[in-house]
Amino acid sequence: MALLKVEGLKTYFYTLRGVVKAVDNVSFELEKGEALGIVGESGSGKSTLGFSLLRLVPPPGRIVEGKIELDGQNILELDEETVRKEIRWKRISMVFQSALNALNPVKRIGDQIADAILAHEDVSKKEALERAAELLKMVGIDPGRVNNYPHEFSGGMKQRVVIAMALALNPDIVIADEPTTALDVVVQAQILNLLKRLKREYNLSIILITHDLSLVAEIADKVAIMYGGKIAEIGPSDEIYKAPAHPYTQGLFASIPRIGGKKELKWIPGVPPDLRSPPPGCRFHPRCPYVMDVCKRDDPPYFNVGENHYSACWLHREKAPESAGS
Ligand SMILES: Nc1ncnc2c1ncn2[C@@H]1O[C@H](COP(=O)(O)OP(=O)(O)OP(=O)(O)O)[C@@H](O)[C@H]1O
Ligand code: SF4
Ligand SMILES: [Mg+2]
Repeated sequence: MALLKVEGLKTYFYTLRGVVKAVDNVSFELEKGEALGIVGESGSGKSTLGFSLLRLVPPPGRIVEGKIELDGQNILELDEETVRKEIRWKRISMVFQSALNALNPVKRIGDQIADAILAHEDVSKKEALERAAELLKMVGIDPGRVNNYPHEFSGGMKQRVVIAMALALNPDIVIADEPTTALDVVVQAQILNLLKRLKREYNLSIILITHDLSLVAEIADKVAIMYGGKIAEIGPSDEIYKAPAHPYTQGLFASIPRIGGKKELKWIPGVPPDLRSPPPGCRFHPRCPYVMDVCKRDDPPYFNVGENHYSACWLHREKAPESAGS
């Protein structure tokens, strides 16, 4: 059984100006110790998916359909109290997008980590502080700095502190939402290496959310490409990198600068869909160079284009078997 199994998940925002279908029928699985990269452009629903897994979707958002099974138990059926006590932070935690700025500037970092522990576990302040020091060591910070304030740390170190907080209750799964976006390239690589090491040493499962396809290659065992609230393609990373199947994924690859590459960069023309009234059929059809009549009419199902590799595109209809889900 997969550690995490998401099936047909739909999370919508009920705004005054209409219903935003931010996550619309998303399915995937994650094993213990596995890293999944979720890649897509701004507004494709990546963070909303992360919030959904934590059952922390902000109003006016709501999970309207689907299952989120953790060890076979659908956490959408649990009451909030149980989620708070047993699931959120303890089993699944999240490093929020722009979490760097979320650290309290007037509080020592050790205390901030200890508070996270004390909020959930019945331990003494002293024990919580000792655990905070251990956590700092785990993320590569000298535990002697437990009494420092956030401003005494660089951006990269603050990000390590935030990761330490996400690890405070020893979760099985950490969702990292754009954990390196605000950092320079060298520090980005260090944070990625840290995540890689945590995965290896603690058998941690990681969901890495990013708009940067080149980042996930480093760490992810599998990759889900999101477009307009849906997974367009999902599969083992090496396969997706070797042979991207979906036209959107191919477009994303064409827009990555490659070191030493002479190829001219191609951006995908057009704009992402308005998720209040997404285009009918395939949501990518207004931007797709291969668009056919059927694409404008019918939402493509997933086609099995390789081992554990699925792509939602009508182009595969002739060659690949149709599949119920990813
Ligand atoms: N609180 C909210 N109220 C209304 N709509 C929202 C809210 N949060 C997100 N949305 C909408 O849901 C859709 C998905 O947003 P989301 O933040 O999940 O995208 P994202 O892929 O994380 O984007 P980014 O790369 O910019 O972080 C967008 O259309 C966004 O406008
Ligand atoms: S289903 Fe059609 S429009 Fe959508 S990606 Fe495939 S070819 Fe393009
Ligand atoms: Mg986001």
